[in-house]
Amino acid sequence: MAKRTIVTLPGDGIGKTVLNESLRVLDAVGFEADYVEGDIGWEFWCKEGNPLPERTLKLLEEHKISLFGAITSKPKDDAASELIPELQNKGLVYYSPIVSMRQHFKLDSCIRPCKTYKGNLLNFVRRTADGSIEEPQVDVVIFRQNTEGLYGGVEWTNPNDVVYNALNTHIKFQKNFSDVPKEELSISTRIFSKKATSKILHAAFTHARKYGYKSVTLCEKPNVLRETSGMMFKLAKQIQADEYPEIRLKNTNIDAQMMWLTKNPEDYGVLVAGNLFGDIISDGFAGLIGGLGFACSANVGDEVAVFEPTHGSAPKYADYPVSIVNPIAMIASACMMLDHIDEKKKADKIRNAIAKVVEEGKVKTYDMMKMHGSADVINKGAASTTQMTDEIIANL
Ligand code: NAI
Ligand code: MG
Repeated sequence: MAKRTIVTLPGDGIGKTVLNESLRVLDAVGFEADYVEGDIGWEFWCKEGNPLPERTLKLLEEHKISLFGAITSKPKDDAASELIPELQNKGLVYYSPIVSMRQHFKLDSCIRPCKTYKGNLLNFVRRTADGSIEEPQVDVVIFRQNTEGLYGGVEWTNPNDVVYNALNTHIKFQKNFSDVPKEELSISTRIFSKKATSKILHAAFTHARKYGYKSVTLCEKPNVLRETSGMMFKLAKQIQADEYPEIRLKNTNIDAQMMWLTKNPEDYGVLVAGNLFGDIISDGFAGLIGGLGFACSANVGDEVAVFEPTHGSAPKYADYPVSIVNPIAMIASACMMLDHIDEKKKADKIRNAIAKVVEEGKVKTYDMMKMHGSADVINKGAASTTQMTDEIIANL
């Protein structure tokens, strides 16, 4: 069989560092692929006025599978001021290349597993009624709709007349906002389509069935967001009843779910939500299993799939002579890529090696030792990024 080509998108800051580490592990586990690097991120925004150049989209279109590190994003005005002089005042507007990529390729399912690694000092613990400490085993997979909702990008400040007049046909707008001057209005919409909503629900239920999870929890807010969350809840009930009768559908509100997160995290299996709430809930669960150093994710569409750690480019650690950041989130994201392309055995081998390293506890990056990040942590016994990867490779 011809070797697969994987598009690597290192991006900015520590994205570059951790992506490279994941390639070392893929190599060590015997995964054979050709890698082509795509340009993405801040450098290309500043130089070209586009953080996701057309040539990168072409590479993704051709090869379909990508490993992505992280990018740096900055607010609109800061972004405009960092453009090279030739590009200044040309009306270029910065837009997150990740969001663009998700929308361009309709990467409509974001999948974020959070599973407790035994022996991780960062695991969530709670006190029982008799005062002793217990450590609930978290094993959840969050399915987040990835292209619509509040991140859909349909938004305005000082809306034009057509938009304003349309809004003004709504009774609630008339009552609550019609006396606000237009220039003082900022509006972000939350649009759900039935097709995309059904798709993420189906993805969640299918995953639950395939991997033996007993429940799917819809985490939205249908009592208040009656149209969008309401539609999702209605569809979830229908899909569950018609197609997945053996799987229990639970329904929680996002705010309450965040409160319950630490009360009974072991009671959840698969969770599903719209874009913003999915983002929130997945960070919440990631916090119970070690945080950003451990949180991995997949962005999956019908054709293209992009695998990335949840964390960003952590610019403050980007230029350390010896990198201190935890490569596990990126390496676990590479495992999700292997799962996706039917290389589950290799993925499991890497996951087992990570689990062994964490449980043995001999090699720990600074975050795993509950230290504050600084160049000094290496002297205080923390492992470097490279040492952590080496240890994982040694345990394969
Ligand atoms: P961040 O995730 O880059 O860093 C937050 C903090 O988490 C860091 O200061 C560090 O203490 C810790 N951390 C992150 N990754 C770690 C790792 N692998 N090991 C150990 N500790 C780690 O988020 P922040 O600081 O809010 O944003 C920095 C930049 O990244 C911004 O420009 C932001 O827009 C961008 N960003 C990009 C994302 C992406 O590319 N998917 C996601 C989130 C933020
Ligand atoms: Mg997030």
